[in-house]
Amino acid sequence: MTADPGELLSLAVAAATAAGRLLVDERPRDLGVGTKSTPTDVVTVMDRRAERLLVERLQAARPDDGFLGEEGTQAVGGSGVRWVLDPIDGTVNYLYDLPGWAVSVAAEVDGEVAVGVVHVPTYGETFAAVRGGGATRNGVPVHVSTCEQLSQALVATGFGYAAARRARQARVLAEVLPRVRDVRRFGAASVDLCAVACGRVDGYYERGLKPWDLAAGGLVAQEAGALVAGLRGAPASEELVLAASRTLFPALHDLLDPLAPDRD
Ligand code: IPD
Repeated sequence: MTADPGELLSLAVAAATAAGRLLVDERPRDLGVGTKSTPTDVVTVMDRRAERLLVERLQAARPDDGFLGEEGTQAVGGSGVRWVLDPIDGTVNYLYDLPGWAVSVAAEVDGEVAVGVVHVPTYGETFAAVRGGGATRNGVPVHVSTCEQLSQALVATGFGYAAARRARQARVLAEVLPRVRDVRRFGAASVDLCAVACGRVDGYYERGLKPWDLAAGGLVAQEAGALVAGLRGAPASEELVLAASRTLFPALHDLLDPLAPDRD
């Protein structure tokens, strides 16, 4: 089965929107909270239901595709397309009924992210990107900010779930904070990356992102003009993701590099 990016995009938007509707309309009083990697890394029954809905929808349309989902879906396909899914990015926001969680759906074609959709129901926003085709919010093109100076930069970040990693992240943050306009911790990596994409923040960095946190939002940020990478020329990875406009990236990189934010 061939992979038409336009078709993958429509499917991703439809599936993410349906999952968002489920998460809003059928949010139960008891979220059935469990924990994963640490006691602060939560999962709810709705993460699992939303992942199931995404997989069913996408599989119905494209039965030969592979899958990687945060809540355990893993399947090798034969089409060259693999869907990378985070049914609720920002589960802690969802748990506390805070805004800013997202459904993140990306399609890789032959191992490279080709399409990304980040649907944020509580903002009424759907960010979308096709590789080489720019990025949009609710269908309107978005671009990174024009900020060039670190001292004027609003920088988003996030924290892992393990206490030791967080202690280190706090030490890095203590060095970043006095050198930038301010920092924000919104609670969903894909939404942070989309915030870079639309200039809502000037930069973003975080250690420990999983493929499903990064895939869709990373492409949206890139297609909006951001450089999305690691330190010292490394690609963005679980080690570190740094995203900013090309004008701000070097300064943010050089601030972070000696602080070793890619280590625990
Ligand atoms: C988390 C969120 C959070 C980030 C963590 C992620 P989850 O994803 O994106 O903002 O700081 O690194 O794991 O667990 O809510 O899907």
